[in-house]
Order: sequence, then C-alpha cells, then structure tokens
Amino acid sequence: MVLCKKWVLAKAFHGKVTAENFRLEEEDISDKLKDGELIAEAVYLTVDPYMRIGIEAGNVVGNAMGGEQIAKVIVSKNKQYPVGSIVRMRAGWRTHTLVTDAEKQIQRSAEMGDLPLSLMLGAMGMPGMTAYFGFLKICEPKEGETVVVSGAAGAVGSLVGQIAKLKGCKVIGFAGTDEKCDWLKKDLGFDFAYNYKKVDVDTALKEAAPNASVDCYFDNVGGMFTVKVLNHMKLFGRVSICGSISNYNDTSLPTGPLPFFNILKSQLKIEGFIVMRWYAIWEEGEKAMLQWIKEGKIKHREQVTNGFDKMPEAFMGLFEGSNIGKAIIKV
Ligand SMILES: NC(=O)c1ccc[n+]([C@@H]2O[C@H](COP(=O)([O-])OP(=O)(O)OC[C@H]3O[C@@H](n4cnc5c(N)ncnc54)[C@H](OP(=O)(O)O)[C@@H]3O)[C@@H](O)[C@H]2O)c1
Repeated sequence: MVLCKKWVLAKAFHGKVTAENFRLEEEDISDKLKDGELIAEAVYLTVDPYMRIGIEAGNVVGNAMGGEQIAKVIVSKNKQYPVGSIVRMRAGWRTHTLVTDAEKQIQRSAEMGDLPLSLMLGAMGMPGMTAYFGFLKICEPKEGETVVVSGAAGAVGSLVGQIAKLKGCKVIGFAGTDEKCDWLKKDLGFDFAYNYKKVDVDTALKEAAPNASVDCYFDNVGGMFTVKVLNHMKLFGRVSICGSISNYNDTSLPTGPLPFFNILKSQLKIEGFIVMRWYAIWEEGEKAMLQWIKEGKIKHREQVTNGFDKMPEAFMGLFEGSNIGKAIIKV
C-alpha cells in the first residue's frame, strides 16, 4: 500500500477563500498494479487563481482540488515510464497518484535539459503559454508600441512584460507592492512600474503613456482598474482579457461603470481567452519560451512554499498578493 495525502474541497467557495474550504484526507493506494499502470509521487505542485473560479479546475465538494503537478514514478508496470521517470499530470492536490491510463493522464512535456523541473508548472507550463499566446495572438504587439500589463509581477504578467520588451515595446506594469515594482524595473527591464495600491492609475498613465497612447493592454485583474486603463487606450488599441482576479472573490458581479463609449470612441478590440484554445499549437510556445529562457532573455522567479500541508495557505496567498513570480509548492 502507498499512503496518499490529498486536499479536498470541504466547502464550496463563496466570497473570500478561507482555511475552512479545505480538508486534508488520506487514502491508501494499492501497489498491486496491472500491466501499464504506475504510481507517481508529487515533487512540485502549483496553485493558480483559476482554481478559485472552477474554469478547467472542475471543483466538486468532497473531491481533491484540481490542478497540475510534477511527479516522480515510484512503482511501475509501464515500460514507457519506469521507476524514476518524471511526469507532468493533472492529478490535483494529492501526494500520490495511481495512473491507470498513462496515455490520457500524463501530459507530454518539452525536454528541458538542466532547467528546474518546476518550470513545467510556470514559464514552460500553463502560465507561460498563457503569456505567450494570450499576448502575442490577441494583442499582436509591434515594435515601438506601448503595452500595459496588470498583475505584472505574477506568473503570467511578469512573462508578458518580458515578451513585450523582446518585441521592442515600451512596457508599463502595475503590481501591488514596491518590492514587486522594483523587481519589474531593475531585473525585468520594465520601463515603468507602479504600485497600484499607492498610485492613482490615471495619474500614472498620464505620466507613462501621455495623451492616451496605450496600444496594448494585457489584463490580469479586471474590475475598476481595467475600466480606468481603457480611458488611456490609443485609437485601434488591442486588449487581451486574461484574468479578472479582483472579482474572483466577489459574491455578485460588478454592475458598472460601463466603458462602452470609450471602447467605441477608441475603436478598441477587446478579446477574452482561455489558454487551452491554443493547446494544439502548444509546442510553438514551449519552443519559443525554452529558447528565450536558455538565452537568458526571459527570467523566471518562483515563490516556493515548502510542504504539501501548506497548499491552502499558498493558494490563499494569491489573493493577498503574497507571491512574486510563480507560486510553487515543493513537497
Ligand atoms: N485566461 C486564461 O487562460 C488564464 C490562464 C492563466 C491565468 N489566468 C489569469 O491570469 C491572472 C494572473 O494569473 P497568475 O497565475 O499569473 O497569478 P499571479 O499573478 O501569479 O498571482 C495572483 C496575483 O494577483 C494579484 N491580485 C490579487 N488580488 C488582486 C486584486 N484584488 N486586484 C489586483 N491584483 C490582485 C496579486 O498581486 P499584486 O500584489 O500585484 O496585487 C497576486 O500576486 C489571473 O487572473 C488568472 O486567473 C488566465
């Protein structure tokens, strides 16, 4: 028998996420495997904001929380994945997983050489592909253009800003602490970075993008912040709606102000997306990100929480801004 720990959703989310939403349970997994089966032990897990709203997470009370992990095969009757193989899979918040259908349960992943395995949950995983496709396909940035990124010091935003710099754009980031803003400017090369908790958005954008000169806006936060940014868009500006974290804990949808007149006046293109729409061409994004990372053109930073028992804490931290870069759990 292999003892598995798992975090289940104890109570449906409503409003702010609290420790009461989660319960730690144990289960025994039989190690008497059939041909083709294997057991994998989690090495790194991820917490992501989408787990709060259920898109792709499929949260069900009583079930383990959904999500990806990097795991090591510890028992195997599968020739393709012998003991010691490293795999990425959507196994959820659990320490051990019985894989009965490796083809379906294990995700293909790029050969990363010496790079850290946890990158497969960050810059080389879903957040990296979100930044790559969600920015390049929707904003279609051109050299010399001005790009605004909200949630700029997080997993996705920090990559979007760097990709924008690689494309020759002027980049303006907004994040929730001075430490995050310093990192964006000094280490990642953002041209401007503002602490949105201290600085008025309109004042900041009048300075960094005078006369409504924002060409592209990559939005991770939504709400009033985004309504304000729309006032600073240039004619034919492009807006990629990636996330709306400022609303995820709301119990009712915000009702206004409605920015339609500004959208009309500036003839904006605004498009929401779920990154899985590009899954068929994932390889293109992985290849580009891998090359940029290896060449040192894209920097990656992780906020590592040690201990599976602290997963809920790390997850709740996303809504308090406690992470810089990608939030990762090391078992
Ligand atoms: N569309 C897709 O397919 C897709 C895929 C991945 C992620 N996303 C979305 O992209 C966004 C970023 O995801 P991520 O994984 O990169 O998370 P993240 O940015 O690494 O972590 C969340 C960050 O959001 C900020 N935040 C929390 N509450 C906020 C609020 N009320 N107002 C403004 N900012 C707030 C915090 O930073 P501060 O200190 O700056 O406040 C926090 O660190 C999320 O909205 C997520 O749902 C969408």
